[in-house]
Amino acid sequence: MGRQIVRACAYLIMTALLSLNPTAAGARPVAAVQISGERRSNFDGDWRFSKGDAPGAENPGFDDSGWTLLRLPHDWAIEGPFDQRNNPSSGGLPVAGTGWYRKSFLVPESQKGRVVTILFDGAMSNSTVWLNGEELGGRPYGYSSFYFNLTPQLRFGSEPNVLAVRLQPEPNASRWYPGAGIYRHVWIDVTAPVHVAEWGTYVTTPEVSGEKATVSVKTAVRNQTGQDTEVRIRQSVVDPSGRVAARTTSDRMGISPEATRTIAASLAVSNPHLWDMEDPYLYALVTEVLAGERVLDKYTTRFGIRTVAFDRDRGFVLNGRARKLRGVCLHHDLGALGAAVNRRALERQIQILKAAGVNAIRTSHNPPAPELLELADRMGIVVIDEIFDMWHVPKVPNGYSKYFDEWSERDVRDFVRRDRNHPSVILWSIGNEIPEQNSADGWKEARRLTDLFHEEDPSRLTTTAMNQWEAAIRNHFADQVDIKGFNYAPTHYEQIRNDHPDWVVYGSETESCVSSRGEYHWPLVAYEKPPWHQISSYDTVAPVWAYCPDVEFTYQDKLPTVPGQFVWTGFDYIGEPTPYWEWRSSHEGDWPARSSYFGFVDLAGFPKDRYYLYQSQWTTKPMVHIVPQRWNWEGKEGENIPVFVYTNADEVELFLNGKSLGRKKRFSETIEIPVNTRVSEDGKFLTRYRLKWEVPYQPGTLQVLAYSGGRQVAEQHVRTAGAPARIKLSADRSTIDADADDLAYVTARIEDKDGNLCPVSDNLVHFRLTGPGDVAGVDNGNSATTEPFHADHRHAFNGLALLIVRSRPEPGEIHVVAMGEGLAPAAADIRTVSPPAKPK
Ligand code: GAL
Repeated sequence: MGRQIVRACAYLIMTALLSLNPTAAGARPVAAVQISGERRSNFDGDWRFSKGDAPGAENPGFDDSGWTLLRLPHDWAIEGPFDQRNNPSSGGLPVAGTGWYRKSFLVPESQKGRVVTILFDGAMSNSTVWLNGEELGGRPYGYSSFYFNLTPQLRFGSEPNVLAVRLQPEPNASRWYPGAGIYRHVWIDVTAPVHVAEWGTYVTTPEVSGEKATVSVKTAVRNQTGQDTEVRIRQSVVDPSGRVAARTTSDRMGISPEATRTIAASLAVSNPHLWDMEDPYLYALVTEVLAGERVLDKYTTRFGIRTVAFDRDRGFVLNGRARKLRGVCLHHDLGALGAAVNRRALERQIQILKAAGVNAIRTSHNPPAPELLELADRMGIVVIDEIFDMWHVPKVPNGYSKYFDEWSERDVRDFVRRDRNHPSVILWSIGNEIPEQNSADGWKEARRLTDLFHEEDPSRLTTTAMNQWEAAIRNHFADQVDIKGFNYAPTHYEQIRNDHPDWVVYGSETESCVSSRGEYHWPLVAYEKPPWHQISSYDTVAPVWAYCPDVEFTYQDKLPTVPGQFVWTGFDYIGEPTPYWEWRSSHEGDWPARSSYFGFVDLAGFPKDRYYLYQSQWTTKPMVHIVPQRWNWEGKEGENIPVFVYTNADEVELFLNGKSLGRKKRFSETIEIPVNTRVSEDGKFLTRYRLKWEVPYQPGTLQVLAYSGGRQVAEQHVRTAGAPARIKLSADRSTIDADADDLAYVTARIEDKDGNLCPVSDNLVHFRLTGPGDVAGVDNGNSATTEPFHADHRHAFNGLALLIVRSRPEPGEIHVVAMGEGLAPAAADIRTVSPPAKPK
């Protein structure tokens, strides 16, 4: 009780302090910002926001001085509070309702005669946009990028323009957390009246050899001069050092008023440097629109030179080399930051995944933020770019099915035009687990969508993720995509391949194993749903349609030419807290489970044990990992504790308090683990992917040594920890950009006096920041807590808590202090430096 009061007081003080912050309170008057004449500039700053309907807010004269002043990207729902009356499958957060954004801006007289376009990377959802009181249009699908030409309504000089955006996300519109708000970036493009159209280039590399690559370009040029015009198009392939590798200039061509004309060009690059997973080399295609020698418009497209093939006998083939896809599915949220996109948060996710050997991402089940593909291009990750979770047949009452008829063609065309130049994109997915698989004429829609994708991008193949393999095959649904993705069907790959000798079949979604970091229960089971909302991390638990990683490894290894798999999921995500809150079950006692247990990394970005099971199969840098990561079992002295070891080394030896418990060779024995009867009738599965001991518990040190080629290559130990004594703070990076966007992720670890992790500690940690940084969020990876993500304190969950610090625009030294009752405090410093000017 006393603890609760202290917690409540701390929370009240924190919220009071936040409301003194002028940015949060929206009290600061803001002068209309002036747009620059740059080809593209960021338009995220100085928006005003109000939750709830605001009749008349589209009118320029509307008084928004009391609204909150903020910078996009913004997700209003992540601020909470959590409430089980909000659908817990969407995270129990307030994702539905009306929200308004307004922004005033000036356009200098000097820009008269230019074309001004606004581009939204995504707005969640059902948006309507007005400029100076006139409605420009809107977009129901919150994941689509969309743009408007502002020029006809624009005022120049000292008269401000007012943009107003109304969002109306509906309840029960998603099976996971969609977020709410203008949660991605907004851009302003200013161009000459004749210019490269939005997403107007299409670059492919139809012929690639060691000596030469053909770069084929289609460019859409738009004429908004109001009269016939003649231009030439000059295009240059530029390498990262700035060297022009190829150049071509078109003949003069006429374009009628208000028309868009597409011209084709072909450039030859000699000795091309290929884009590959280990060497993600990017070229730039610079397109210039010329009137005489005058450059009217300059537009840069990044692309890579690579070949992609799917081959029945070789699998996925990149630049002629067969590669197994070690993929993960990822939802779009970024944990404590919610849906609000952040480049560093995405980059950190990819870094963590790559360290487990991941080389592919499926953007389940919607168009990703553009930044994800830019990072994939730069970091050598390949992507299945997926567009829909449903077509006509709804999965939730207010899902995309309501808009599919009217909007699907537009959404597909825009999606492909936006994403088709990314070398990372290897397949288009037309949808996930589409219920139409089951209907006799569902194939027609699949055909229409595949044809649309091929029309917009003949260079790539389509796929879909099918969970009803028999129905999808029987109904000819599967025939309509080029590459057949099957979800949760490893035991059927061989049969499907045998029945369809021409098909390439892969695991579009696999495993769905569930666990909570640092939680261990025995005896081992294939399914559990403990009332305390934490699932065992022995990596055997999965819902009825799913299974542990060992099952997929077994079938993938048996069929090396299957291109690979996409694990559900890399990171935990908000919403869908299976096995809690399942659609058809009673929800009694399910709250506060509110985010997923599927990730092999938790919501805070801390790897779970499963992460190391993948790492042991997918990487070669020596590693060894013990499960459980907890050797505190008071009262269980003498009881046999199951111990797994995950390793990529040849051999390991386990020791308890210095005494050997035996040496085991990798893959040398099969052990039995429980699975559900969908995988194996007797509920047992034999695996070679983990080594097992039963260790009679006594406190002390459990240690494993790993050997390869007779040499010790890795070691790990888990020690019985004493009482929590101190906090250890560590920042993922000690220097970040002073750009009001970059983040430092600071881990608080609860340790005993000797530096051992206290594996079940839940101490409340308070963070204090000084210097040019702010709290962007806090978390601990617990899927079942209603503690807010926006706070300066967090309970540890099984010994760990996370603070996310965002820089401010001014450089300096951020000092973080972490404190907790009865714990020695800790400090960490993060330097923020002015970012280098971005290359144009
Ligand atoms: C799949 C579905 C995913 C997720 C997963 C959980 O069937 O495609 O979106 O719901 O199940 O296991």
